[in-house]
Amino acid sequence: MELRFCTWQEVAAYLERSRAIIIPIGSTEQHGPNGLIGTDALCPETLGRALGGKLEALVAPTISVGMAQHHLGFAGSITLRPSTLLAVLQDTVNSLVRHGFDSFYFLNGHGGNIATVSAAFSEIYAQTSLQPGSHNRPSIRCKLTNWWDAPGVKALCGELFGDQDGGHATCSEISLTQYAYPDSIKTAEMTPAKAPYGPIYDAEDYRRRFPDGRIGSNPTLANPEAGEKIFETALAGLETDYKTFVANGARTP
Ligand code: NI
Repeated sequence: MELRFCTWQEVAAYLERSRAIIIPIGSTEQHGPNGLIGTDALCPETLGRALGGKLEALVAPTISVGMAQHHLGFAGSITLRPSTLLAVLQDTVNSLVRHGFDSFYFLNGHGGNIATVSAAFSEIYAQTSLQPGSHNRPSIRCKLTNWWDAPGVKALCGELFGDQDGGHATCSEISLTQYAYPDSIKTAEMTPAKAPYGPIYDAEDYRRRFPDGRIGSNPTLANPEAGEKIFETALAGLETDYKTFVANGARTP
């Protein structure tokens, strides 16, 4: 169930049986010579919609722009400052809390979001924790799951790509988008075949260290068949992860 295709009455009816919602969150940033700029949003969106469809869980619109300041040296990348993303997350959760949602399952596609999303959760919890005895606001639970951390995914990607998967513009994330969007598959020559590893600082430094945008990866190995395997494995792992999250504490409506 996608929120954007529901009526308000359908959402009200959903809240009679569940107070949990899946929120895909990603980024809009360069992904090397053959990776789509939307990769980090498309991956959790694809998996989130499939998960919601399988479990009849509500899926919020994807938060498609994240914290990606280090990618601004490449055309097309967009970032929110950490403080802006933090405000977006608080306002999104608080809007949904008003309607009765209390369990927020953020399905993440971008490592650069993790610190800020975690900080946003602490801000959200602090709203209730700083007002002990207040009954105006129910207890809220937020969880962040990176799709690549779903059980079985890392092992599969290791089997598929070995040490060529890399850290950014990975074979696995590009394969997943190639499976989901076969009409948008890109090809490119890359030198060296496997990109270097290194630390991440600001955008200028990133561009110097990683001239074509990749970190540690050889995404010429990406292919839609691998993407399908990754999709199926991730979906199975996320199903368990989501069900456990909902079962461990979601209030009965
Ligand atoms: Ni990515």
